[in-house]
Amino acid sequence: MKVLIIGGAGYIGSHVTKAMALAGHEVTVFDNLSSGLLVNLLPAAAFIAGDIRHADDISAAFSRGFDACVHLAAFKAVGESMVEPEKYSVNNLSGTINILNAASASGCRKIVFSSSAAVFGSPEYVPIDEDHPKNPESYYGFTKLEIERILAWYDSIRGIKFAALRYFNAAGYDPSGDIVGLERNPQNLLPIVMEVAMGWRKELQIFGNDYDTRDGTCLRDYVHVSDLADAHVNALAYLEREGKSLAVNLGSEKGVTVTEMVEAARRVTGRDIPARYTGRRAGDASSLIPTSALARSLIGWNPRLSDVDTLIKSTWDVYRTYRTPTERA
Ligand code: UFG
Repeated sequence: MKVLIIGGAGYIGSHVTKAMALAGHEVTVFDNLSSGLLVNLLPAAAFIAGDIRHADDISAAFSRGFDACVHLAAFKAVGESMVEPEKYSVNNLSGTINILNAASASGCRKIVFSSSAAVFGSPEYVPIDEDHPKNPESYYGFTKLEIERILAWYDSIRGIKFAALRYFNAAGYDPSGDIVGLERNPQNLLPIVMEVAMGWRKELQIFGNDYDTRDGTCLRDYVHVSDLADAHVNALAYLEREGKSLAVNLGSEKGVTVTEMVEAARRVTGRDIPARYTGRRAGDASSLIPTSALARSLIGWNPRLSDVDTLIKSTWDVYRTYRTPTERA
């Protein structure tokens, strides 16, 4: 299929682009490079520079004719979304509407959408299944949930079939080393742990050790980004085969606490990684663990790389090639 990958130069998008190309699709990346990186652009993909906030940009891209698109272009910092909601409204919400209108006008009837565990809010029970109540606790999570609802309307009115993939905690790097761009100003645990291991940060702050978990630190489901990428390929095949929309959770079903992640990182990297406990971070749930049974049964998805050691080693193998966060050694 001819597939347009919107946000394909970003951290997850570049892994999706590689997986789609390996699956035999003809891939084109559309990205404004605001957080995506040129170094992430894979030779297998054509590139269109453009911004989803500009309806003309995205319409021009779709007018080239695509059978399907993957939409990963979004701002994704939970904390920032509570301070600057306007940014998230314009990019995540209006930008997606621009994409859907352009897809609709051009006859593109399949979309794979990056959704998030953030649509659920604090769990009422774990593991979280797809029917779990959806009460996002951040504006970011709200934008993802709202887009899922808009997708359902475009499905019923325009016949655009969608796969909403609710990622839990994406981590890791392409193990074969094809993708090496580091996220600028990372907010997530593993990149921050790597920056401490590299000596770019003095220490890791562990946000809270009084949670109701086995060691008092938050429990999360970390899933390898290449496993997530495979889910996009499988989801697109499902849309083609079944002609039906779906929304599924994507997690490894292996809960890891913050302390366990740090200890594993010390072992895998051989570095000290100084860490200290600080107060809780606002908005953090104690445990966020999904069941991915639906993804297994509907799209045949089985994560292969989401064990802690592979997550850390594949990330470390990229970080250690850098001298500074922006300069490769
Ligand atoms: N953490 C620390 N110190 C840090 C950074 C993180 O202790 O410096 C802890 C957090 O408190 C949390 C865990 O590490 O317990 C993971 O935190 P991340 O920021 O890496 O990830 P979150 O679970 O907060 O958020 C992730 C995605 C969001 C998504 C959310 C779904 O980054 O995009 O899962 O709930 F919305």
